[in-house]
Amino acid sequence: MNILVTAGPTREALDPVRFLSNRSSGRMGYAIAAAAAQAGHAVRLISGPVALETPAGVERIDVVSAQAMADAVQAHVTWCEALVMAAAVADWRPATVSPAKLKKHAGTLTLELERTPDILASVQPLKGARIYVGFAAETGDPEAEARRKLAAKGLDLIVANDVSRPDAGFEVATNAVMLIDSDGSLRQIETAPKAEIASELVTWIEARAKQA
Ligand code: CTP
Repeated sequence: MNILVTAGPTREALDPVRFLSNRSSGRMGYAIAAAAAQAGHAVRLISGPVALETPAGVERIDVVSAQAMADAVQAHVTWCEALVMAAAVADWRPATVSPAKLKKHAGTLTLELERTPDILASVQPLKGARIYVGFAAETGDPEAEARRKLAAKGLDLIVANDVSRPDAGFEVATNAVMLIDSDGSLRQIETAPKAEIASELVTWIEARAKQA
């Protein structure tokens, strides 16, 4: 299969030296890209700024901002049979980007933020028979929020994790996730290396593709 994976954070510039971002390390998305390539699939990885090596056999496309990631996904989605949106896309960006470094001054500074494009929503019209997998990083009730996003984003599967746990989510080598299928079924994967979760996910994608 042709599998398109996004990974890592995005950076939203405020001025030439500052940006807004998040704690995503890219490890989960990179593990998925690696597992998919190992299983013999053609893999393109659209990556935000991370400190990770490109997995063997993977074609990597580097981007920085949410807008650039949206453009890259739009450009490559018709190539794929499965899209895995593991990236932690910034939802907000500074409404204006200063061309010069902002100088400090007395008192407070108020930033105005505007929404970035919702990438999954923007590629919804291109879905057709493609398999779309999303992630939900939550600090509250992961299952309820994930089920809401699965339906709202028209996904085939959502991978939910509670990022407030020390053994799951951002910056750690392990994860503990719930796989929630559009058929309503839920599968819990207890704390495991991200590589193991990644290969479970690839197996799920292969099985779903066979059903089609
Ligand atoms: N996502 C996306 N475009 C965005 C933000 C997120 O395509 N601008 C994708 C993520 O890659 C992930 C899924 O949508 O696969 C859910 O991301 P998440 O940040 O958990 O959800 P949001 O839609 O941002 O919802 P909320 O802010 O309510 O948590």
